[in-house]
Amino acid sequence: MKPLQLGVFASGRGSNFEAILKAIDEGQLHAGVKLLLSNNADAGALETAKKGGIPAVVLNRKMFDCRNAFIRQMISVLKFHGVDLIALAGYMKKIPAEVIREFPNKILNIHPALLPAFGGRGSYGYHVHEAVLEYGCKVSGVTVHFVDELYDHGPIIAQRTVPVEDDDTAKTLAARVLKIEHQIYPEVLQWFAEDRVHVKSSKVIVNK
Ligand code: GRF
Repeated sequence: MKPLQLGVFASGRGSNFEAILKAIDEGQLHAGVKLLLSNNADAGALETAKKGGIPAVVLNRKMFDCRNAFIRQMISVLKFHGVDLIALAGYMKKIPAEVIREFPNKILNIHPALLPAFGGRGSYGYHVHEAVLEYGCKVSGVTVHFVDELYDHGPIIAQRTVPVEDDDTAKTLAARVLKIEHQIYPEVLQWFAEDRVHVKSSKVIVNK
């Protein structure tokens, strides 16, 4: 079977991107990362791409006179690099609807909580974990889902829980959640490599 041709979008440190690359290196994920795209020229993920010899592109709205030109460029860069599945890994910008339409059910996101709770605009980084602790949840976790036109909203592909401990801070909880993120994302991507993921209306079926 042909390896999955991945595009990874990251705005920051890129530890999920590293986990994906590690899984590929170790033979657990039958894929190649064809492109790392970032909106942020200072993203740590760009360094990782450079070290791994992975084509990296910085693209953001500010680089273009109009929104359409930006979107057209995003789509053409993805096509040029032959990307067939996009994994958002800490990408802090909304994906334009035109790009979602161009790649239907081909864009995934990872969120550090159990959606549909603790998601949506402004729910990122420590804000998510602070909200979970503030609410008094006994479990939190990770969600991998398809991207649609709303924040943290598309069909859920996989979820895994982590316990919330009485003495947790946002930092300790984030670390526990991140460890699971690094496991689940490569696993889910491998399901795609094996063509086991199917969408039926708003539900995702993963063949055993
Ligand atoms: C992760 O917690 C992910 O769930 C969220 O953004 C964070 C990215 O971390 N979407 P990293 O850049 O992959 O280290």
